[in-house]
Amino acid sequence: MKTILTGIRSNSVLTLGNYLGALLPMVRLANKHSGDSQINIFAPDLHSIISDVDGDLRENIIRTFKYYLAAGLKVNENVHIYRQSYVPAHSELCWILDCVATMGETSRMIQFKEKSKGQESCNVGIFNYPILMAADILLYDAEYVPLGEDQFQHIELARNIAMRFNHRFGAEIFTVPAKTSDQVKFMGVSDGLRIRDLLNPEKKMSKSTVAENSKIMLDDEPEKAAKKIMSATTDSIGKIKFDMWGQPGISNLLQIEALVTDTPLQDVIATWAGQTKYGDLKKKVAESVSEMLTMFQSRLAEIDDAEVYRLLEDGEKYANKVANAKLLEVQKAFRLR
Ligand code: TYM
Repeated sequence: MKTILTGIRSNSVLTLGNYLGALLPMVRLANKHSGDSQINIFAPDLHSIISDVDGDLRENIIRTFKYYLAAGLKVNENVHIYRQSYVPAHSELCWILDCVATMGETSRMIQFKEKSKGQESCNVGIFNYPILMAADILLYDAEYVPLGEDQFQHIELARNIAMRFNHRFGAEIFTVPAKTSDQVKFMGVSDGLRIRDLLNPEKKMSKSTVAENSKIMLDDEPEKAAKKIMSATTDSIGKIKFDMWGQPGISNLLQIEALVTDTPLQDVIATWAGQTKYGDLKKKVAESVSEMLTMFQSRLAEIDDAEVYRLLEDGEKYANKVANAKLLEVQKAFRLR
């Protein structure tokens, strides 16, 4: 069976961007492939502590898993949820891969460059982040790692590390994850990879942006979310067209509408193409987002913490078993065992 694996950090309440760009597509993939694949959905809590956490990390993690369940994830014998720090093999393999990866390739990571810009005091975890991520992926022989495009470079790094490792020891110890173009095909969401900031649509919608109206949080009151859509930045062209470069604000709204209403993007584009009233489009998207949030929040309220803890206990048993077996193979290759 192939393995599909992904994770979302729980540094705060998630945004609509995380939900539409990562969480919901993963839930759909998991439900589709749970008969023919192992599905691992984990909380990268050790990745969370490279930066500040809003609120209590443990509670945030439980809330994120509730989001998955509210979005329709069905946990069963092939679908597992677990927390990274409850599986110590992740950090152990990270160190070993640190001795395989090079400073050159790790320094080239765009996220590292952006986050460390001009900061001598930036923590080493920010630099090491993609190596831990490679460990998260390679421990489980994951072939597919559904992620947004901001993370593609990290998948390529994991591939390079896996290939170098296998070559060095002359054995297929790690499964090399699929290349990003194949990942995108597999996800089937090539159009919906990046939800933009509502006020600044050249940028992605991000939890860390300060301006409230730039992002929709999953716990926003539905009316408040609708107002944010109504105040979204558009352009002065005056004609609706899907063109992420020329009209990023309008294109973002079309994309959100498609994902929130589960309609193919091409259909949404065709419905609105050539129309001139931006206000009408905003009104429709505002309604769709507020309806979606109302339903999502009421499903969320029905899920209790005890259920999540029970699922995590099973998931962490499974994860430790698989991860420890792989770690032992790696330790043997290096003659540590
Ligand atoms: P994180 O928490 O930064 O991002 C989680 C996922 O959300 C996607 N994303 C978005 N997608 C669309 N539009 C947006 N505005 C938007 N904002 C965020 C990200 O692309 C990502 O898919 N490094 C990972 C966590 C991780 C991981 C792993 C994932 C650690 N180890 C191993 C997979 C496998 C991350 O970026 O999390």
